[in-house]
Amino acid sequence: MKLWSGRFGKETDALVNAFNASIGFDQRLYREDIQGSIAHARMLAAREIISRRDAEEIESGLLEILQEIEAGKIEFTEDQEDIHMNIESILTARIGNAGKRLHTARSRNDQVALDFRMYVRREIKKVISEILNLEIILCEQAEKYQEAVMPGYTHLQRAQPVSFAQYILAYAHMFTRDVTRLEDCEKRLNECPLGSGALAGTTYPIDRWMTAKELNFDRPTGNSMDGVSDRDYAMELLSDLSILMAHLSRFAEEIILWCSWEFKFIELDDAYATGSSIMPQKKNPDVAELVRGKTGRVYGDLMGLFTVMKGIPLAYNKDMQEDKEPVFDALDTVEICLPVFAEMLKTMKAYPENMRRAAGRGFINATDCADYLAKKGMPFRDAYKITGELVAYCTGSNKTLEELKLDELRKFSDLFENDIYSALKLENCMALRNSYGGPSVQETARQIREVREFISARKI
Ligand code: ARG
Repeated sequence: MKLWSGRFGKETDALVNAFNASIGFDQRLYREDIQGSIAHARMLAAREIISRRDAEEIESGLLEILQEIEAGKIEFTEDQEDIHMNIESILTARIGNAGKRLHTARSRNDQVALDFRMYVRREIKKVISEILNLEIILCEQAEKYQEAVMPGYTHLQRAQPVSFAQYILAYAHMFTRDVTRLEDCEKRLNECPLGSGALAGTTYPIDRWMTAKELNFDRPTGNSMDGVSDRDYAMELLSDLSILMAHLSRFAEEIILWCSWEFKFIELDDAYATGSSIMPQKKNPDVAELVRGKTGRVYGDLMGLFTVMKGIPLAYNKDMQEDKEPVFDALDTVEICLPVFAEMLKTMKAYPENMRRAAGRGFINATDCADYLAKKGMPFRDAYKITGELVAYCTGSNKTLEELKLDELRKFSDLFENDIYSALKLENCMALRNSYGGPSVQETARQIREVREFISARKI
């Protein structure tokens, strides 16, 4: 029998039952639902809306149900539609009238708003700790390769010398922002909607501050209609997760490039690569490719939820039941991508000698050559032009800048002296890029220190 059957003269059609039910996916809110109900019951008793005895029976009944759910002993039914009604009806079947009093001064609308918020809040913490774990690994890898000169690219064309550490730390900075974005989302969502009722609050003398405090919220939500209708936190979470996935997919793309024969800057561990069913030589970066691919899923979840929420009038509408699956899917996706990606990076091997070889071709010290002339007094634009002509000359004779003899160089400018060779040496070019945030060892050491401080200021 439905909890709400009183008003109806017919049973719900079986098709509608199946269509309407959300228990198939919202059962993962069981913990939050029970926590929220216990806080609600305690408050009702404290405000003498129900008796202490009833509240105690409700609490012990719910705790028992919680244990049984975790032990896999409870079967939910579609007939009870969702997790909220399933739990309430199990409770009532066990404790009778006290169970029937639990829903006093409450609606499923504020109940689901509460459960979902608490769920998102809990998962944000989990995602943050996974990102921090990834950042720890990035710091360890960066520390090993501070001296490893590699080409930095723009337009995927070799541009200027950086170190492998600098490259890795660029991603660490992105992930740091992802953490702060999620923390920000958590701060904003931390208001308790319980007590908003169906949409218009309640005539009972409830204490919303008490339930908010009990459930670790900063305060109750300030408007009952907004309280039950707001899903900003879910949209914000999906935005944050989408940006995080954008970062992971860019990194994944680099990994895929780097382990190709065209680059061979890295080698993935055998445990983090896969083979081909026909080509015996293949070692494929499936993990990175899947992370790149799953980014599309998370963007889809984001667009799905945005589209569900678009144009819904206040307050609760059943459309909003569609808010959960995209959030669950995005969280599941991110929570699997992060640890597997982290381990893949932890176990990968870098080939600094291949990076160095690649850095040697492509004139990535051309800017340094122009800077050399500029530092000797030539206006930078002139120095730039002369260096361009030198590059063209080298391309014609298949040489690098540093392979040119001093008298060849001096045909282009008499400012060239013997010290040009040390100015063109890639190791020096990198080491001298010591401006704040640059790739010099001193600067990558500072970056590693700062990322580590960021991590240790948070508990994992
Ligand atoms: N299963 C519903 C959801 O997830 C719970 C809220 C239902 N409220 C209602 N008035 N039908 O949105």
